[in-house]
Amino acid sequence: MTDSYEIIDHVHDVIVVGAGGAGLRATLGMTAAGLSTACITKVFPTRSHTVAAQGGVGAALGNMQDDSWQWHMFDTVKGADWLGDQDAIEYMCREAVPAVYELEHFGVPFSRTEGGKIYQRPFGGHMSDFGKGAPVGRAAAAADRTGHAILHTLYQQCLKHKAEFFIEYFAVDLIMDDDGSCRGVMAWNLADGTIHRFLAHQTVMATGGYGRSYFSCTSAHTCTGDGNGMVLRAGLPNQDMEFVQFHPTGIYGSGCLITEGSRGEGGYLTNSEGEAFMERYAPSAKDLASRDVVSRSMTIEIRENRGVGDDKDHIYLHLEHLGAEVLLRQLPGITETAKIFAGVDATKEPIPVLPTVHYNMGGIPTNYHGEALRPTADDSEAICPGLMAIGEAACVSVHGANRLGTNSLLDIVVFGRAAAIRAAETVDRNKTVKPADANTGENAIARLDRLRHASGSQSTADIRTGMQRVMQNNAAVFRTSEVLAEGCSLIDKAAENLKDLKVSDQSLIWNSDLVETLELENLMACSKATMYGAEARHESRGAHAHEDYPDRDDENWMKHTLSWVDDNWNVKLDYRPVHEYTLTDEVEYITPRARVY
Ligand code: FUM
Repeated sequence: MTDSYEIIDHVHDVIVVGAGGAGLRATLGMTAAGLSTACITKVFPTRSHTVAAQGGVGAALGNMQDDSWQWHMFDTVKGADWLGDQDAIEYMCREAVPAVYELEHFGVPFSRTEGGKIYQRPFGGHMSDFGKGAPVGRAAAAADRTGHAILHTLYQQCLKHKAEFFIEYFAVDLIMDDDGSCRGVMAWNLADGTIHRFLAHQTVMATGGYGRSYFSCTSAHTCTGDGNGMVLRAGLPNQDMEFVQFHPTGIYGSGCLITEGSRGEGGYLTNSEGEAFMERYAPSAKDLASRDVVSRSMTIEIRENRGVGDDKDHIYLHLEHLGAEVLLRQLPGITETAKIFAGVDATKEPIPVLPTVHYNMGGIPTNYHGEALRPTADDSEAICPGLMAIGEAACVSVHGANRLGTNSLLDIVVFGRAAAIRAAETVDRNKTVKPADANTGENAIARLDRLRHASGSQSTADIRTGMQRVMQNNAAVFRTSEVLAEGCSLIDKAAENLKDLKVSDQSLIWNSDLVETLELENLMACSKATMYGAEARHESRGAHAHEDYPDRDDENWMKHTLSWVDDNWNVKLDYRPVHEYTLTDEVEYITPRARVY
């Protein structure tokens, strides 16, 4: 029986859920546009996972070598293995340049060239001259703490504009209207246990990725796919969830990120024979090939018994030749991380690394304004009124089957800004937000109450570990039909375990057991969509490397996967076309071709 919960009501023009880079950029823009905006966040804003982004934000500023946004677009389309929507990619790469200068003017402390320009380093897959030339310095960097610098600056700008924050509030579920539109969100104030009903014209999901579906990842423990879970429970789909990025250089053991910027500065990988093996796999770009290519190459080296260490199960990343002066100036963060988490002095010895889950290309399908899509039978791409999604929670789709490094910080600032522009255009400030009745939000409260009183025999931590092991083993860098079919059956069992869940703390104040349980349901929904989407996709494209179908199959599979997960954890899949057109005629559609680096 549902306990009675007192509800505190709030009405705003816009609600932003999440205060990472995307959420803060949207909050800033919406507040500055005069919209009454509530930003709800489960962690203090400057603790959001954007703080961990290291190497840089991609933009063709041309500060180090010649560059153009069209080259950036070409690289992004190629990196995405042609699953990205080219209208959205054009928008992102074109807007990258003003968006980064805007960050500079907001006060982001970028590193500088001798001449005082923003310093830019090369990154994987970012080349000159439509992929034909050399790697280009395109990652605008604040040493190796670029995300930290951007997040703090955006938060300061939000404070300057007097944005309203609801900090350490956990968003439980969306409030959906009978007509299918979104009316807001129900949230739980973790500090005092009160329940809050936020109603607005627009609700923006900026909740980040779901890296914690896996056992080893570079993502914070808070990256639990909360927005993706909420959208699935609202009966809307996620898109392209089978595409999970493995970053080549997570520290062996802990999974902590060692930025790709380290290879941009001249670092390289070796196997047990001391061979810089990337030359064999990517003769032109070598260690700066795109991430999926480098992660697969490392995995092959380990499989073929050329891994390093006692168990020959990892690879070395060499930075020692760069010298202490360069490491301390350009890469101080990862030099410290290597010391703490690998016990290695990177100025003197190589860092042990292994491909580690890093990013979700999939998410809530949106257009390039950040409006969530409600797919229709005729693929007409209707939007879901009142709902937007941005950042890693969303799938615009600019990253397609594989994201290029630096395009994630770019995505959050460009589409956070785009969502604010769109909301300012579409929200009618004079229109009254539809008021709540006694039942509005009751589903969310019933769910919270059910989980709070779950009295089975399995702990949240045990069920979560089981799920993470399945994802790690059965939806890895390389996949086969057999392993994926087994993965579907194992993830079904992991979800079944939720019926036997035990939550041992029933309080509503700082109940981390209940928070982790709500997060686990979100992670489980994302895991199911990922495994089933992967099992169904009979080709290899970007991060989805299927050994039984080793080639990309544009004829049958150049399409986005849509996945729904119902209340009984059943997955339904459908597909929608990739946008094979650009936004303007300033650039031509980039036709699919072989992807070699
Ligand atoms: O390697 C890195 O610094 C990560 C960057 C990114 O994922 O964009």
